[in-house]
Amino acid sequence: MAEAEIQSGEKEFFLDIPQQNETFFLKGSANYDWGMKNRLARIFNPRSGKTVMLAFDHGYFQGPTTGLERIDVTIVPLAPFADALMLTRGILRSVIPAASGNPIVMRASGGPSILKELSNEHLVIDMDDAVRMNCSAVAVQVFIGGEYETQSVGNMTRLVDAGMKVGIPVLGVTAVGKELVRDAKYMGLATRMCAELGAAVVKTYFCPDFEKVAAGCPVPLVIAGGKKLPELEALKMAADAIAQGASGVDMGRNIFQSDAPVAMLKAVRKVVHEAMNYKQAYEYFLELKNQKNG
Ligand code: 5RP
Repeated sequence: MAEAEIQSGEKEFFLDIPQQNETFFLKGSANYDWGMKNRLARIFNPRSGKTVMLAFDHGYFQGPTTGLERIDVTIVPLAPFADALMLTRGILRSVIPAASGNPIVMRASGGPSILKELSNEHLVIDMDDAVRMNCSAVAVQVFIGGEYETQSVGNMTRLVDAGMKVGIPVLGVTAVGKELVRDAKYMGLATRMCAELGAAVVKTYFCPDFEKVAAGCPVPLVIAGGKKLPELEALKMAADAIAQGASGVDMGRNIFQSDAPVAMLKAVRKVVHEAMNYKQAYEYFLELKNQKNG
């Protein structure tokens, strides 16, 4: 049978169509191995090139944060509307349904509580466990200018080395302390150091002149939301960040502390994935919120 097929000459090799070498859509990410790219393409939507991650890892240093007292009740229902979930392994295993299809960005550093020096972190998971949990990325806090700056950079570089062995990208999270200024000079320094030392994605805060921070960082930047703002202001911040070069948001309190979290998450998606004007996105938020209450 196989011989007859070979002799028939009917196979089609499309000799006039050269095989295309695909480029990769994400900034600075073209030279990774296939597994790493595939995981990044689960977090970042290949059509928009952007992501809306839902961050609810706050308990790793501050306990039951407002809005996160019962993650099973308040956060699990939001998961279908998020592109990725950023959380701790304790919450993943205890609360998140294993059938949930969300890519997981796992918090991998910790140690000190809000009662102690926060920069004194260590790595808190082993890469084998990240693989076991099918993580799409691991996240580590980097305290540039903090008391344990070098230790936190060391945590990140060890995680990058371990991640490279298994194709798991590292999200470097630039921490801000009370004593550190949130300006473009500081954010430019911290984000660039994370990228130079191997982070595949960097999380930072929006600040004036953010476009210079984004331009100076050769890998995708996502912004944290920070403390709860009125929804209109939070949507404006997300829209400004996207317009100035951010590849998405990794937002927590501005979503789960909203009085209409699903509506807020959907409105943030409009801004991030469709570049919707923040005022229109706010109208959309109100419409969804009123439908729920109506
Ligand atoms: C803690 C984190 C949080 O995930 C981050 O702060 C995002 O949450 P929020 O939008 O509430 O600031 O990385 O260090």
